[in-house]
Parts: sequence; structure tokens; C-alpha cells
Amino acid sequence: MWEKDIDINQVREIRTRTLVYFGCGAIEKIEDISKDLKSKGIDKLIVMSGRNAYKSTGAWDYVEKALKNNGIGYVNYDKVTPNPTTQAIDEAAGIAKEFGAKAVITIGGGSPTDAGKSVAILLKYPDKTAADIYEFKFTPAEAAPIIAINLTHGTGSETNRFAVATILEKNYKPAIAYDCIYPTYAIDDPKLMAKLSPKQTRYVSIDAVNHVVEAATSLVASPYSISLAREVIELVGKYLPKAIANAEDLEARYFLCYAAMMAGVAFDNGLLHYTHALEHPLSAVKPDFSHGLGLAILLPAVIRNIYAAKADTLAYILEPIVPGLKPDAADSEKAAAGVYEWLKSVDVPNKLKDEGFTDTDVDKLTNLAFTTPSLDGLLGIAPTKADKESVATIYRESL
Ligand SMILES: [Fe+2]
Repeated sequence: MWEKDIDINQVREIRTRTLVYFGCGAIEKIEDISKDLKSKGIDKLIVMSGRNAYKSTGAWDYVEKALKNNGIGYVNYDKVTPNPTTQAIDEAAGIAKEFGAKAVITIGGGSPTDAGKSVAILLKYPDKTAADIYEFKFTPAEAAPIIAINLTHGTGSETNRFAVATILEKNYKPAIAYDCIYPTYAIDDPKLMAKLSPKQTRYVSIDAVNHVVEAATSLVASPYSISLAREVIELVGKYLPKAIANAEDLEARYFLCYAAMMAGVAFDNGLLHYTHALEHPLSAVKPDFSHGLGLAILLPAVIRNIYAAKADTLAYILEPIVPGLKPDAADSEKAAAGVYEWLKSVDVPNKLKDEGFTDTDVDKLTNLAFTTPSLDGLLGIAPTKADKESVATIYRESL
């Protein structure tokens, strides 16, 4: 119970590649951040957000005041949707370029963060498009400075070099990873997350759990990604039910936010494989489908299929939510069933059929997992040989 020694109202600096201001009240640090930006000659920027949360959480009041106090002009693109598209990114980049923006502030969960990272690249490569980025037509070496104000405890995007976007007409949802899109600063303020609905709360925390299960079991997993994974699963197992029961439980929000941030660092190191590579086709085909829900549905089958290859690691990291697993291939089914029981316990018993997918979709989804740019790279570091058969098996077992 080391958590009892932490004062959640103390804002701490957590240094990953990004300087993260972490704790209740961290949003006030936007004043210092704005001062720093201005001192570096940044007098205009674009703020990227969804329609409502940036205001309803109260974040905008702090940001607007800080920008005004420091004489920084801004334009706000508030049309980022879940699963942001390359068209939306191009539209925002056009506005940013016309305005003369020299930096990007993102306010939101993974979608505004990732769209903002993409705009930050396009500010340095004005002749390119978002599709050029996500179809890997060039390799960005620089981006405008990014400040990520995080409003959900899920993606971890505020502390890592990843971004995703959807190319609608191709049903592609690729992921990019470039050093130039580490945010310069991130703000993780659990108070800004106290209005997440129980459903959002579940889905974003399940996203974090998937990040670490994959980062701890990929072919490039390290001791670091494995240690982080155990801690993340322990914290989510303990605090997710509390945040579902009481949205305003700031202690629960604090430790879920910490877990998600650490999970972002974990997959920055250990990367991702099956669950994310197979989820992206789901939300690319159905753009209103929640990333976290898709991951939840796929996770038990992924565990069943990789347990034998990584039994020691999985028995260790899953212990907080599936106690008593033996590090032995014989426990594959027990591990998968245990994870599904845990998902049910947080009220996510869904299967793909519940979400409108059928047997007839398996071939298309399987093909997308291999043809979507970048996803083959994730499949290439899965702990078992990922071929069309193994991918189709996971989709089928998830129906
Ligand atoms: Fe994710």
C-alpha cells in the first residue's frame, strides 16, 4: 500500500522523454509552460480538441488564461472525433499553417493528442499530407513542439512517440512512431478525468492493460516493460472498480492515470503486437467503435494463443487479476478464462458478435491486419508466429 504515502494533491515532475506534470492541480502548470514557449519565440499556436471535453473538464479556462497572460495567439480546432481521420488532420493543419502556428497544444484523450502530433509534423513539412504520413511516404525528422493535456487515463500517448489515424477510404488505421513527436510537456491531472463516464472509464483503463500485456510479451520486451506491466495491472485491478463506482474518487483517478501513463512508457519500450494489430481493423471498418472495447473483446483469445510462448511473464504480470496461474502452457485456458472473468467483473463481457461482426467479416479483418501499413510490423514482433491462420483464429475465438 505504498499509495498511502503519496499526496495526490502534490504535483510532481515525472521525467520520461517527456516532462510530465503529474497530480491533482497539474493543469495550473500550463502557465509556466506558456511562459517557456513564449521565451522560445512561440507566439502563435493551434489548440487541438474534441467538441466538448476541453471545456466541460475546466481545462480550457486554464489554457486560455495562460495563453492570454503570455501574449500567445491561438486558433482552436475543436472538431477531432474518436478515431480521427487523415482528412480532419489535413483540415486542422491547413488552419494551423494559415494562422502561422509554431506549436500545438492538445486537450483530450488519444484522439486529439494523436491528431495534434500529426499536425505538428505537417507544420514542419507543409507540402505533405496526413495520408503521406500514415502511408509512410516520408520519414519525419522534426515536428513543432507538442504540449499534451491529457483528459483520459488510457492511451499513454501524452508520454510516447506513437500516433494513430484512420485513412477512411482504405479502412486503414496505421500507427506511426517517431522521436520527433514526443510531447515536450504533458499534463496528467486526475481532476480533469473525474467526469469520465463509467463506460469511458472501463474502456480507457482496458486500453492501458492491453498496452502492457503486449509490451511485456513482444519479441522486444525488456525487464523495464515487464516490471511496468505488473505495476500497471496491479493498479488497474485495484482502482478501476473504485472509479467505476464513484467517478469523483480522485485517489482512484490518480492511480489509474499513473497506470496509463506508465503503460504509455511501457509500450514505447516493448511495443505492441496482436491485440492492437487486430483491433485497428475493427475500428477502421467501424469508425465509431471504441478502441478499448475492441481490445477487451480480443484480449482473452490473444492470451490463450500466446500463453505457452510467454507463460512465465504472463503468470507474473496477470497475478493481480488472475491469481494462481502456473507458468506452464497447460494453464493457457485458465489464463484466458481468468482474464475474461476479470473483464466481466468490470462489466465488459462483450464479444465481437455483440458489436455486429460475424464470421463473414473474419477474412476481411484478417487481410486488413496484414495490409494496413505498420500493422505487419506489430505482428512481426508477436511472441508466436503471426500468420493469417493465427490472426483469423483470434478473431474467430473472439466472436
Ligand atoms: Fe491502445
